[in-house]
Amino acid sequence: MTEDLSKPTIIMGVTGGIAAAKSTLLASRLNKAGFDVRVIMTPNATKFVSELTFRSLTGNKVVTDMFEEPEEWDIRHVSLAKKARLAVICPATANFIGKAANGIADDMLTTTIMALGCPVVVAPAMNDAMWANDAVQANVLKLKGLGYVFAGPVTGRLACGTEGLGRMAEPDAIFDVVMHSYLAIGRSSLKGVKLLVSAGPTVEPIDPVRYIANRSSGKMGYALASAAAARGAEVTLVSGPTALSDPLNVEVKRVDTAEQMLKALEDGFEGCDAFVATAAVADYRAKEYSDRKIKKEKAGMKELELVENPDILAKLSSMKGGRLMVGFAAETEDAIESALGKYSKKGLDMIVVNEVNERNQPFGAEDNIVSIITGKGEVESLPRMSKSELSHMILDRISELMA
Ligand code: CTP
Repeated sequence: MTEDLSKPTIIMGVTGGIAAAKSTLLASRLNKAGFDVRVIMTPNATKFVSELTFRSLTGNKVVTDMFEEPEEWDIRHVSLAKKARLAVICPATANFIGKAANGIADDMLTTTIMALGCPVVVAPAMNDAMWANDAVQANVLKLKGLGYVFAGPVTGRLACGTEGLGRMAEPDAIFDVVMHSYLAIGRSSLKGVKLLVSAGPTVEPIDPVRYIANRSSGKMGYALASAAAARGAEVTLVSGPTALSDPLNVEVKRVDTAEQMLKALEDGFEGCDAFVATAAVADYRAKEYSDRKIKKEKAGMKELELVENPDILAKLSSMKGGRLMVGFAAETEDAIESALGKYSKKGLDMIVVNEVNERNQPFGAEDNIVSIITGKGEVESLPRMSKSELSHMILDRISELMA
């Protein structure tokens, strides 16, 4: 087994279920993200997807048989377990969960898992009655207590044709949990921290077909919420309309307008320890909503009267108490100066500044270049990085400030 240190090894366990077909998408995304993906299949899993599929997607030999002659003279399940930075079981059957929770190692996957010292993400897939079964739930609870991270299941259509809680989460959502669990390795835990995050744009209707909104994909706020959940925080995400799916392990409240966002955030503010405002709140809304489409020939559009929306961050900051308040700012000129003004005016502990220019177009992008302002105006300029990595850098600063 040759080792490429630049490619972190991830073990992907695949157990027997129809969701194994979807897990090929996860293998592919992990491979593209730069992981050295080592797939271990249970014999039942090979009845749903062939080894060759995973081998082609990962470029690595797939292991199924405990007693197969290893390529090199070592005990393969132990050597693989030693190399692994993280493991993900996708899909995980009730049988796998039961074995892992009770220390049973009777195949290549369970023997490898037992020898691991790294985080393990579990993506269950089963019938809803099986998932609700007391024995399964007791095993899940036990594994959670041992530090296993669960990604799903979710409610949806099941293999048996009914709807219920037991469907495997989408591979992209599982990928996010895996990525954030990987990035969380060696970083401070946020266990016990209650984090409130606002994300996305707000959309202020003018008439049934028009609205006022800011540009925002929501990606930064969603990444922050996922990152914090992976580090153990209890996260509530209040989101304006976005094309993104709800992140796993995060409570999501969807809203449209600034007033609805304020209301949802006020509800969550009481019990939170920190508030991170990534939302691009529309500063104005139409004074009066027209329930008929305003015709462009008529004066209505040209003379549209606007009223100012509440400044959510400033309003919540006035009830700050011992909470940590973090703002975001997207600026096209005098970025630092302008952000410093918002930092003091809105009573913040930290502000993250996006510069929007030819070099950095953060809207909808996967990466971002920002500066972080904390303390008495100390500015830390960060290089370009993915919004996932950036989320963990921001959480590192939050956890330092909270300490
Ligand atoms: N914000 C908010 N409510 C608003 C406007 C902004 O909560 N009505 C929050 C944003 O979520 C962000 C911070 O305040 O965290 C700064 O937002 P920004 O739009 O840059 O600042 P504004 O105060 O609206 O100033 P301007 O648009 O004039 O730059």
